[in-house]
Amino acid sequence: MQIIKTIEELRPIVKGWRKEGLRVGLVPTMGYLHEGHKSLIVKAVSENDRVVVSDFVNPTQFGVNEDLASYPRDIERDAAICEEAGADLIFHPEPEEMYFADSCTFVNMDKLTKGLCGKTRPTHFRGVCTVVSKLFHIVTPDRAYFGQKDAQQLAVIRRMVRDLNFDIEIVGCPIVREKDGLAMSSRNTYLSGEERKAALILHKSLLLGKQMMEQGERDAAKVKAAIIQNMETEPLAKVDYVEIVNPDSLENIDIIKGKALIATAVYIGKTRLIDNEM
Ligand code: PAF
Repeated sequence: MQIIKTIEELRPIVKGWRKEGLRVGLVPTMGYLHEGHKSLIVKAVSENDRVVVSDFVNPTQFGVNEDLASYPRDIERDAAICEEAGADLIFHPEPEEMYFADSCTFVNMDKLTKGLCGKTRPTHFRGVCTVVSKLFHIVTPDRAYFGQKDAQQLAVIRRMVRDLNFDIEIVGCPIVREKDGLAMSSRNTYLSGEERKAALILHKSLLLGKQMMEQGERDAAKVKAAIIQNMETEPLAKVDYVEIVNPDSLENIDIIKGKALIATAVYIGKTRLIDNEM
């Protein structure tokens, strides 16, 4: 498995694969890989002839007061995980390789990015859409793999691919959880022992909401209120949002009829965690 740092080196490799008629899968990541990422890579390996994992902490998706500088990084550990999962190549560029000093072109989305995480992270999805578009142009994959944990990101990328006519199949993959239910995330490493226990309230509360819906509750406001009330039993948790939305349009649902995504973001101490259930 190769680790490639420049676009100039990467392009001829992928072109060579294409000439041979090989199908290429891309797993975009910001590194510090965990079992969730590994499951995406394993799936990509099973469905494509060659798999590229991008490992790039993308500065444009972090807000000014967010954790860009402290975001965990460990390329050697990532390389071992990618190798084990069967990836062929890691694309690991420096920020200067991805962005010109005077870059002034960004991919903006009007809808889908305003609610949920977009409310408190107003520039986040502009950064995500921009870097993912760039990765799509650089790697030219047939398929790209994203986790369902970032449900808003998945919906936004699906919409971007549709709206901008990228000829790429977007594959959404299930959330991978620790045994006790905590959704895997590179940011879990920020949690102290006490916070790690407190973080279990996210999934427990989501399951409570899901159970209410399964038992026939149709009033989204009631389900939301019960989830928030349950979250608030945990003193270390501060709810950013709990919303019940259509998983494709991300529009709020009042009366639950068809598919409904319960999405949440919660601060556990200083760490903001997201999770969802359908
Ligand atoms: O989900 C992530 O890790 C990032 O948002 C992504 C898609 C790799 C873009 O930087």
